[in-house]
Amino acid sequence: MSPRFAHITGWGMAVPEKILTNAEISKMVDTNDEWIFSRTGIRERRIASSDQTTASLATDAALRALEVANLHPGDLDMIILSTSSPEYIFPATACIVQDKIGAVKAGAFDLMAACTGFVYAINLGSQAIKSNGAENVLIIGSETLSKVVNWKDRNTCILFGDGAGAFVLQASEEPGGVLAAVLRSDGSGEDLLSIPGGGSRHPASMQTIYDGLHYIQMNGREVFRFATRVMAEATKQTIESVKLTMDDIQLLIPHQANQRIIEAAARGLDYPMEQVMVNLDRYGNTSTASIPIATVEALEQGRLKPGDNTVMVAFGSGLTWGAALINWSGPLPYRRKVSPHLVRRFARLRSILARLRRRIEGFIWGNG
Ligand code: ACO
Repeated sequence: MSPRFAHITGWGMAVPEKILTNAEISKMVDTNDEWIFSRTGIRERRIASSDQTTASLATDAALRALEVANLHPGDLDMIILSTSSPEYIFPATACIVQDKIGAVKAGAFDLMAACTGFVYAINLGSQAIKSNGAENVLIIGSETLSKVVNWKDRNTCILFGDGAGAFVLQASEEPGGVLAAVLRSDGSGEDLLSIPGGGSRHPASMQTIYDGLHYIQMNGREVFRFATRVMAEATKQTIESVKLTMDDIQLLIPHQANQRIIEAAARGLDYPMEQVMVNLDRYGNTSTASIPIATVEALEQGRLKPGDNTVMVAFGSGLTWGAALINWSGPLPYRRKVSPHLVRRFARLRSILARLRRRIEGFIWGNG
């Protein structure tokens, strides 16, 4: 059997309209634009409205990615949604997206590897394709961290923003696509960045609410030190695994957490900052969504072209870190045009009919 490759053939992003500037945050906590920008590189971030959720942003990004790939949701075999701010503890947010786009034959699950989640999803999705387990995979990174940030904690509330990004991965015999990846973790750092409340260790109670355990808790200095070490290391390990060097890489797309962390990674790789994609000044840290959002903007700016090699590298809570090397391809030839508007309408109709069928079956067979 000839080898199969997993190509990224579609991409899309979605961010809320509402912008929150550093000046506005300065009215909420004791900070200022100069401090935030000089320590992080962030100027502003997007904040979800009350009716925007992790699933709704994910759905918008997914439909854009499917439109670029010209792939009908009915042809998807798998949906992997990476998030640290899911719609619920369960069911998986991926299942809500599956219903909203009408991906009738796709398995769907959430992946939790914090900010590294999208890199994990690239690897899992591409491995499913390469091992003949799937033809078409949708991967999504989506966050509404503004809903779990303590807006009175200046150590964390300045950093995060909301948004979503998605890729379509498709099988092809044409060489290219996802070439290599490394995924790493170190759970001894579990306490450095977490939302401790609401799980089995600290079930939700009046006390957990009072103690603020449902908000993001972070040891910024420790996370900073860890991040500056692993970003360059993971990038090197990934490219060396296929015997390439940084000279073969046209664009580095790092997780957008902090300008100083990104610059330290570039220095560690002896790689020019001009070839590093940075857009965190406008979005802050959107966690697992930051890499696909940065990729979409790099494509719009003409900084990533078919044939280019790019490394996507991230770190995050867990601790987790990892990198993926991709030979960029672009959409495959398509059979029919996909209209996000029609897809959304048909999916809604299908969902209503599926709920109605369950009701009728319950009526006929009884509810036990
Ligand atoms: N405004 C003004 N002063 C502040 C603020 C603020 N928003 N936040 C902290 N300070 C103060 C501190 O209290 C401290 O004062 P002190 O010396 O009197 O105690 C001083 O500024 C310096 O604080 P540091 O923590 O040393 O500041 P640092 O330069 O390390 O920057 C930061 C802090 C931006 C959080 C940095 O450590 C960082 O970016 N860390 C990585 C965080 C990260 O990337 N997290 C996301 C990981 S991805 C994921 O999984 C979601």
